[in-house]
Amino acid sequence: MAKIIAIHSYKGGTGKTLLSLNLAALYANRGKNVCLFDLDFRAPSLQSILKAKSTEYWINDYLNGVCDIKKILVDVSKTYAKRGSLLVGFANPSTEAIREMSAKDRKWEMKALGRLLSLKNSLLNDMHFDYIIFDTSPGLQYSSINAIVSADLVLVVSGMDISDIKGTQRMIDELYDLFEKKTGLLMNKVFANFLTTKGHRQELAKKLVNNSSLPLVDMVPCFCDILRSGGTVVFSNENPDHPFVKILDRVATTIDTL
Ligand SMILES: Nc1ncnc2c1ncn2[C@@H]1O[C@H](COP(=O)(O)OP(=O)(O)O)[C@@H](O)[C@H]1O
Ligand SMILES: [Mg+2]
Repeated sequence: MAKIIAIHSYKGGTGKTLLSLNLAALYANRGKNVCLFDLDFRAPSLQSILKAKSTEYWINDYLNGVCDIKKILVDVSKTYAKRGSLLVGFANPSTEAIREMSAKDRKWEMKALGRLLSLKNSLLNDMHFDYIIFDTSPGLQYSSINAIVSADLVLVVSGMDISDIKGTQRMIDELYDLFEKKTGLLMNKVFANFLTTKGHRQELAKKLVNNSSLPLVDMVPCFCDILRSGGTVVFSNENPDHPFVKILDRVATTIDTL
């Protein structure tokens, strides 16, 4: 069944963009029709990562009610999908657009939520996408909440910093429950033997993994060559035998069963 997946986290830098992009390419390579949205209006990333022709309209414009969703979608299947299809909606990375988006009021955000919710009909039903993936802003700001509310499933990504572990635990205890959505936890950048080593941070991480109400989707190790790639490599295409892709393949399957 078609799905909207929001990838969210408490802090920035946890790997949301890397995971969103690679998961999107992986589903496409399974022959699915996938749409990836950059909803991180504070730090738009996908446009600088992907080699795509420049776009006239951005998701910002769609949410502003300026254009139809079809106007903003850029087809990158030729470069990024061996099978299936991959279309991307970019967030406007200009300084002016970032400032404009951060100054939106509640009333605008309510309207934007309506526009996001209506995507489900236009994209999943009319345009026959199998998956829509939302790469979101970290934290509790309005645009992230809108993304979570419009999704069918939320993948919460936590890194191993203590502030990240504590923040994720707080969001699990106080936030995600409110939405009554399928939600899973992914621990990213986990280094070897972390959970079996003694220490305060390790204990908190263990508690998060073992005792929180969210199912653990996976633990993804920290790979130096991912860091070295500077976030621009789509591993499922360029390096399909990389252990990261094997794990991501498992993540994609687990998400389908949540
Ligand atoms: N498992 C991992 N191993 C090594 N580096 C990673 C891993 N996951 C993410 N990174 C790197 O961490 C940095 C931040 O990731 P990014 O996806 O931009 O985070 P976010 O979108 O949550 O801010 C990037 O340089 C990315 O390549
Ligand atoms: Mg990001």
